Amino acid sequence: MQRLLRRLLPALRPRALLAPPRPMALRPAAAAGGGGSPPREHDGLENVQQKKKIFAEIKKMTQQRKKPCPSAESVDSLMAEMPFANTDIEDEFAMHATSEVNREKKRKRTTGREIPEGSERKKTKKKQYQPNYFISIPITNPEITDGIRAVQDAIIQKDHRLSKAMVRCGSLHVTMLVMHLSGEEEIGIAVDALSDSKDFVEDLLKGKTVDLSFQGIDHFKNEVGFVKLTENDDTAVLTEIAETMKKIFQEKGILAGEGRAFKPHLTFMKLSKSTQLRKEVKKIDSSLYEDFKSQYFGDEVLHRLDLCSMLKKKQPNGYYYCESSVFIGEKHAAEPDDAELVSLSKRLVENAVLKAVQQYLEETQNKTRQTDGSPVKTEEAASGTKNESDNDNSK
Ligand code: C5P
Repeated sequence: MQRLLRRLLPALRPRALLAPPRPMALRPAAAAGGGGSPPREHDGLENVQQKKKIFAEIKKMTQQRKKPCPSAESVDSLMAEMPFANTDIEDEFAMHATSEVNREKKRKRTTGREIPEGSERKKTKKKQYQPNYFISIPITNPEITDGIRAVQDAIIQKDHRLSKAMVRCGSLHVTMLVMHLSGEEEIGIAVDALSDSKDFVEDLLKGKTVDLSFQGIDHFKNEVGFVKLTENDDTAVLTEIAETMKKIFQEKGILAGEGRAFKPHLTFMKLSKSTQLRKEVKKIDSSLYEDFKSQYFGDEVLHRLDLCSMLKKKQPNGYYYCESSVFIGEKHAAEPDDAELVSLSKRLVENAVLKAVQQYLEETQNKTRQTDGSPVKTEEAASGTKNESDNDNSK
């Protein structure tokens, strides 16, 4: 039965999940941390180990990378040439190495030998610690995005120069964590950390949802305009998630997290989007959005966390390039749940057993007929085969 089940395993994978896994030369974190989910109760499948393997495989495959892309390192080196290199990223996120673990691991990874900490920081701080990735909660509720567009339009009406500062509706998001990833290996580690974060979040929520409520407008240093999140139990949970994710990423050696505390917000404009604008406008005048200062924009349920690149070309819908996404709470369309998998497995096993029994019966019948001289009923055998293939088609 085990051999049979093993042969049937490929058929258990829904077609959508058969996309080739992301190419990854080295994923030490995956190998080390591969604890996976705890064993589930017996459910009728004879080989529980096999089932766990299927679950783990499907889980990995549902965290899809969308497109092959140049390495973060090559993008990093290109960055120095780019006009926005010192605007949208470096000035915005003063990212410091936040833990000794990070620094230690980074030092070893980068050079392969120990070097004095001070000299390393002096030489490489600028390149290494510049954030180039972040964890994003996409904000897509049309009520919210339409409301924000109205605010943006009203501001632009009053000051045309600020059109350059506006965040496109397709890229509206709440940042959970910023980080620096240098190269495919670290991207792979971050993908695994995101997967671990999903397990943590789902354990924490136990089926409940995190409902983010957006109301009111505020600013950071009059340079960034954002919609506020109403402070409540849900934002407290969000903060716990952000802080734990930071730990999960840091424990894997990723340089993650800013020095400042997590303050969830939904940025809709920032001067740093344009170097030219920054020269022209030093401060955003809060009277420009006075009429919307207490406006309620809507709610968004946390259902997805994305690992996004700050530098790679955005998607056609305006949203960031995602290396990986995890879905929280609800079942993703391409992700069958446990019950579906078990029922599918059972059906496959039943059909295989039926087929084997039928074949056995036919063979013994034929043998008997051959030995006692009666003719072989080829028609019957053929019709039996047809029924089987009909069954197969209905699967
Ligand atoms: O993450 P997001 O794109 O919304 O950040 C927009 C800007 O807000 C960034 O420039 C970031 O540095 C700034 N910010 C800040 N203080 C915070 C969080 C973000 O100045 N607590």
